[in-house]
Amino acid sequence: MPSLRELLKGTLPEDLLRLVPSSFDIIGSREGAVAVVEMHEALEPYKGIIAEKIMELHKNVRAVYRKVGGREGEYRLRELELIGGEEVGEVLHREHGYLLKLDVTRVYFSPREATERQRVASKVQPGEFVIVMFAGVGPFAIAIARRQPLVEKVIAIEINPIAYRYMVENVRLNKLEEKVVPILGDVREEAPKFAEKADRVVMPLPKGAYMYLHEAFTCFKKKGGVLHFYFWDREDDLFKRGFELVRRAAEEHGFEAELLEARIVSPYAPRVYKLAFDVKVHSKSL
Ligand SMILES: C[S@@+](CC[C@H](N)C(=O)[O-])C[C@H]1O[C@@H](n2cnc3c(N)ncnc32)[C@H](O)[C@@H]1O
Repeated sequence: MPSLRELLKGTLPEDLLRLVPSSFDIIGSREGAVAVVEMHEALEPYKGIIAEKIMELHKNVRAVYRKVGGREGEYRLRELELIGGEEVGEVLHREHGYLLKLDVTRVYFSPREATERQRVASKVQPGEFVIVMFAGVGPFAIAIARRQPLVEKVIAIEINPIAYRYMVENVRLNKLEEKVVPILGDVREEAPKFAEKADRVVMPLPKGAYMYLHEAFTCFKKKGGVLHFYFWDREDDLFKRGFELVRRAAEEHGFEAELLEARIVSPYAPRVYKLAFDVKVHSKSL
């Protein structure tokens, strides 16, 4: 398959060709998908032809969106401008054998995080009680319940009512009603209802998960468990601050935090990365 840049040769000035993105997200399936592209502003006059060529490369793409600005607000949404095709509303996305229905313009979803979801899901042991905070349309919760069918329960908390509605539908689509419990609400209020229940807590909100560490530690069983914590930080001091925040919150709840693994998930901005911390939480008293 030719690259987008190759396809655009001759239609764009040579000096702009090098600004054409080498990759973009495709969300959906063979029956219908959308493409989401990050585009340099100098390409603005050519956005229509770029969208056309993306649809030529990927025949299943019905709509091409350009990212406008960054993610904002509590729901972590970004403005998307339709630059080709027609509004399609929702699509059915498949990753690692499960289905996710969603509308990219109304909920957070990143297909690039599929590998990270699998990495976390692969750690879950039979019989565990798992809490996924900031659950979106359910990809972490569904990945976990698919990969570890003997999980006791996965509680998935989400505040955006549209994302929650998709999560309920996605749980049904993947026949996981027995395992995944979607909850609509604020982690601040909903998580404490599961005090001392969890073996594992997942916190996939790099912007601000640290403000909910108190709720996470309230949820752990007395003996502790494992925390998957996400955080952004600069490359000059990558993992220090994130782990320190976890360590201090653990201490306040009478736990000890042992860092199992810390890794870069993806670049976020120049010299800033999204980081994942896997932390074993031990009880100090037991
Ligand atoms: C970065 S997205 C991650 C979504 C999902 N886990 C995924 O990987 O696709 C964070 C999600 O947390 C939700 N959220 C933000 N603050 C919240 C809160 N206080 N309680 C519950 N959900 C929250 C947002 O609406 C958004 O869907």
